Amino acid sequence: MKILILSFSNNKVNKDSFIPNKKGLTFACVDECIKNLSKRKIEAEHICMNFKNIKKCMACGERGWGSCLKEHKCILNDDFNDIYDLMNDYDGYIFITPVYFWEMSESAKTFFDRLKRCDAFNENSKIKGKKFISIACAGGSGNGTENTLNQFDVLNHFMNMEMIGRIPITKYTYDEKTNEINKCIERF
Ligand SMILES: Cc1cc2nc3c(=O)[nH]c(=O)nc-3n(C[C@H](O)[C@H](O)[C@H](O)COP(=O)(O)O)c2cc1C
Repeated sequence: MKILILSFSNNKVNKDSFIPNKKGLTFACVDECIKNLSKRKIEAEHICMNFKNIKKCMACGERGWGSCLKEHKCILNDDFNDIYDLMNDYDGYIFITPVYFWEMSESAKTFFDRLKRCDAFNENSKIKGKKFISIACAGGSGNGTENTLNQFDVLNHFMNMEMIGRIPITKYTYDEKTNEINKCIERF
């Protein structure tokens, strides 16, 4: 089994972090996922999407649909189509985003907007039915984690995937939530 982790923060090192190796919360969760997957001998790959070139959807064609509707490809020349193709090779996914303004981060929204368009009406989709875990990493208040996870519910609805974990996490709940990450990974 192979799991693809897509993360959506560029905060690799945060000097104020409470996490001992001074990582941001999103990167700390990525490490936790890789550790738990490798404990179960599950192959994992991580892509930090903030370091990829993913442009915003132009809603380029007639009535707001472009080649995404019929060809299930985007006409924009960037990293999106390669990552969309790459997702076919994996058995499941873990999506990890910081919470910004009660929403998933900009890089997450930009990517998932285009993924929904290309895949929602793709009868030959190799993503549909696959399992995924969504993780929303927030500041101390945790305000907005539920709204962010709701955005993953919407993705799940249109993509017909199987959400096996839906985890809100803050610095106050980090320890207990990393146990929950471990439990969710058992469901792959
Ligand atoms: C632009 C911006 C908006 C934010 N909005 C929220 C928010 O709505 N709710 C919240 O709890 N934290 C919010 N935060 C705090 C981040 O969620 C928090 O710092 C989180 O740890 C970010 O993930 P990271 O550690 O991987 O960078 C915001 C941070 C930024 C930079």
